[in-house]
Amino acid sequence: MDYTHQAVLLEEAIEYLNIKEDGIYLDGTLGRAGHSSEILKNLSEEGKLIAVDRDTAAIEAVKKRFPDEESLILAHSNFQDFDQVLAELGIEAVDGMLFDLGVSSPQLDNPERGFSYQKEGPLDMRMNPKQKLTAGDIVNNYSQAELEKIITEYGEENWAARIAEFIVKMRAEEEIKTTSDLVEVIKAAIPKAVRRSGGHPARRTFQALRIETNNELEQLKNLIDKAVDYLKPGGRLVIITFHSLEDRIVKHKFRNLAKDCTCPPDFPICVCDKEAKVKVITRSPVQASKEEKESNPRSRSAKMRAAEKI
Ligand SMILES: C[S@@+](CC[C@H](N)C(=O)[O-])C[C@H]1O[C@@H](n2cnc3c(N)ncnc32)[C@H](O)[C@@H]1O
Repeated sequence: MDYTHQAVLLEEAIEYLNIKEDGIYLDGTLGRAGHSSEILKNLSEEGKLIAVDRDTAAIEAVKKRFPDEESLILAHSNFQDFDQVLAELGIEAVDGMLFDLGVSSPQLDNPERGFSYQKEGPLDMRMNPKQKLTAGDIVNNYSQAELEKIITEYGEENWAARIAEFIVKMRAEEEIKTTSDLVEVIKAAIPKAVRRSGGHPARRTFQALRIETNNELEQLKNLIDKAVDYLKPGGRLVIITFHSLEDRIVKHKFRNLAKDCTCPPDFPICVCDKEAKVKVITRSPVQASKEEKESNPRSRSAKMRAAEKI
């Protein structure tokens, strides 16, 4: 099957990366190379693009598409370990980095990956198929309190307590194995009158399980400081998020990295010696145009922020 992905905020991301044709760039979320192929178009033979994905399917698909592209180096890795990828290549710093978070359309469209509440499949949701923990392990083993916490925090779901209660009741009778099994449990937990509004009733719970399975928020937090340390002066860090919790992390991290001294105002002298490492270049997050939102529904929740290394 030909699984494709329509890149979000493509032109805007390229503009904010401010690509130098002989520069070295890192795309930490290769997906189906929507952004990567556009970065490559802006590079000369001297330029390099290191493209990383934790999903082997993404790496394999792109390898087939660009068999002879000498500027492109593909690496199967978690983006939080990009420093190891660069070290193996003998690269100390790059001119720009892009991270387009979340899942790709091919991951969502393939029922076997278990990301979609609209397709029958195993409760998997691992972006890295070599990882052990699956969404099924979480659903069938986490305590009721842990499930409620995850569904509340990562799914922002008002019915989290009832969903967690129903999951625990149901799994005591039989293991919850498939996406459809879970959708049925969620539907049973949310009263019918409420289910009529607010989109698919399983959307928020599935999002929460995906974030927990892939440890997405922790990895984003670990990533940002490290990314800035590996940028050359003037290099740009561009991050596209699809969830308010992710955008909040990026906003706060950028704000903190852009600050000099953070000592309390009543301290007579600075004791923290903190110096700003970046200049934030998006005063508010960049969002998709009306046309893009119409043609690609995924872009509706996208927010892009960019910072430049000082
Ligand atoms: C939204 S898609 C990227 C789409 C890509 N920009 C394009 O235009 O085709 C996100 C991709 O990032 C990958 N990904 C998510 N978190 C990751 C992580 N921590 N490390 C490496 N790859 C990750 C996913 O496997 C997925 O392929």
